[in-house]
Amino acid sequence: MTFPNHRPRRLRATPATRRIVRETQVRPEQLILPMFVAEGLREPRPISSMPGVVQHTRDSAKAAVAEAAALGLGGVMLFGVPEHKDAEGSGALDPQGILNLAIADARAEVGDDLLVMSDLCLDEFTDHGHCGVLDAAGRVDNDATLEIYARMGVAQAEAGAHWVGPSGMMDGQVAAVRSALDGAGWSMVAILAYSAKYASAFYGPFREAVDSTLQGDRRTYQQDPANAREALREVALDVAEGADVVMVKPALGYLDLIARIRDAVDLPVAAYNVSGEYAMVEAAAAQGWIDRDRAIDETITSIRRAGADIVLTYWAAELARRA
Ligand code: PBG
Repeated sequence: MTFPNHRPRRLRATPATRRIVRETQVRPEQLILPMFVAEGLREPRPISSMPGVVQHTRDSAKAAVAEAAALGLGGVMLFGVPEHKDAEGSGALDPQGILNLAIADARAEVGDDLLVMSDLCLDEFTDHGHCGVLDAAGRVDNDATLEIYARMGVAQAEAGAHWVGPSGMMDGQVAAVRSALDGAGWSMVAILAYSAKYASAFYGPFREAVDSTLQGDRRTYQQDPANAREALREVALDVAEGADVVMVKPALGYLDLIARIRDAVDLPVAAYNVSGEYAMVEAAAAQGWIDRDRAIDETITSIRRAGADIVLTYWAAELARRA
C-alpha cells in the first residue's frame, strides 16, 4: 500500500479510544423532561400509547420534579390536563387552573435548582382542542389568541415559571408574550419558542396524554412537513420577536432543520423528541425487535449531533439515571 496508509479504524479500536474521540455527548443538564399533570386524579394514570409515561397527580408530579432536580436534568416542561374545557380555554388563565398550580408546586419543590418550564398553548384547555380560540366561521383566530397567550404568559410567570414555551404557532406569539411579560415586570422570564413546529403524525400519543378533543388537524397553523425554508423564516421571526431559545419539533424527521438552524442563529437550539418518536421505540422494543437502550441512546445522540443544544425527551430521567 502506498503512503500514507490511512486507517480510521485505529480510532475505533477499543472503548477507551472511541470514548476519547467521541464528538457528541448527551449530558443530563442538556435534557428537559416533559410532564403531564392532570386535574382531579387520585393516582397517576398510565398513558397506554406511551408506556412508562403517566398523567401525574399534583403529588406525584412534585415527586417527579424533585427527582428531576436530583438527577441534574436541565428542566421540566409542564403540561396541564384540566377536568373541564371550554371554547376560550379559560382554565389556562385561572391561577387555580391545573397547569398554573403545577408550576407553583414545582417551584415550591425545587426553587431555582431546576428550570421549571410550561407549555404556553390553549389546546389542552379548549373543548374544540385547537391551539387558539375560534372566530365566527370556526377558524383559529390568530390575533384574538395572541391576547390570551399574553395573559397566559403572565399567569405562568406569576405561578413561577422560569421559562415559558409558546407552542401554538400563531403569528406574532413570541412578541405578544415578550411584551406582556416585560410589561408585567417579568423581563427575566425566558421564552423557549416552538419556532419550527410541524403538523405531524408523530404527536399522536400526546393527544391521549392530554385527553385531546381535537377534530380535524392543525395544518392552518403548524407547518407543512414538506417545507424547510419556511422553518428558517419562522425562526428568524422568532429571533426578531425576542425568543431566547428556538426549537424544532418533531426532532427525528427534521434533523436537517436542526442542523440548518444551528448554523443560522446564535441562540441555543432545542429539539423536541416527541411522543410518537418515543412510542415507536418503546413498541418495537416491547416486541423484541430492537435493543431498547441502544435505540434510545442513538436517538438522542443523533438529535444532539445534528445540532440541538437542548433536547426535550420523555426518556430524560432514565438517561440521567444511567449517565
Ligand atoms: C401543543 C403541543 C403538542 C405537543 C407539545 N405541545 C401537540 C400538538 O401540537 O398537537 C406534542 C408533544 C408530543 O407529541 O410529544 N400544546
